[in-house]
Amino acid sequence: MCKNKKTTFFIREQSKCVYLNKMYKIKKILLWFIENDEVLLYNVKRKIYYKERNESEKMKEKFLELLNSVKREGMDELIKFLESSDFFTAPASTRFHGDYEGGLLEHSLKVYELLEEKIRKSELNLEFSEDTIKIVALLHDICKVNFYKIDYRNAKNALGVWEKVPYYTIEDTIPYGHGEKSVMMLTEYIKLTVEEKYAIRWHMGFSEPKELYNTLGQAIKKYPLVLLVHEADLEATYFYNT
Ligand SMILES: [Fe+2]
Ligand SMILES: [Fe+2]
Repeated sequence: MCKNKKTTFFIREQSKCVYLNKMYKIKKILLWFIENDEVLLYNVKRKIYYKERNESEKMKEKFLELLNSVKREGMDELIKFLESSDFFTAPASTRFHGDYEGGLLEHSLKVYELLEEKIRKSELNLEFSEDTIKIVALLHDICKVNFYKIDYRNAKNALGVWEKVPYYTIEDTIPYGHGEKSVMMLTEYIKLTVEEKYAIRWHMGFSEPKELYNTLGQAIKKYPLVLLVHEADLEATYFYNT
């Protein structure tokens, strides 16, 4: 090998080494984040697992198991309604969180998990029945049933070719609001306690219009469950992106 060729070979090998070293460091940092960040780990897992059909089936089983354990007259009919609706396949929103098939189911389960933990670990002397926790958490967003539809728009793919791309859009067949709509829909099947009605009605908390803040504040003072459900809902949305 002549001197010039040797130098070129050496430089090429050296830059390969620098590149591999950089990639190794990036991979190590990514792995560190994934292993040490619970939220990130959860999101990575969710994205991987959700691709497996099994995962949505497991979530559906867990949801139904929890709801079936609630002793409330009319629950059987309510479950039948959910099974005949798009509850188990609907997204949680069009693009803000849980905007994928099964997003609403995953979001509802996450809110339940967070609310249950929040109440269990609270230093305040909070007492709610298991049934109440399940109903308000798992069903607070029942208003999103039969609410989204898939539409198509034109977009260029990576090769620059136009194609139809599906996206979620809203088609509200029962325009009755949000929290209040969930209460209305639920009371068509089961009786809710006053506290449950308040917690579901106001679960959007301070994302309600400003004019309602005073009423909301009074509701929270009267029924702390209102704020707890709102917090669990926010955490599920923003910390876990469900
Ligand atoms: Fe909601
Ligand atoms: Fe929600």
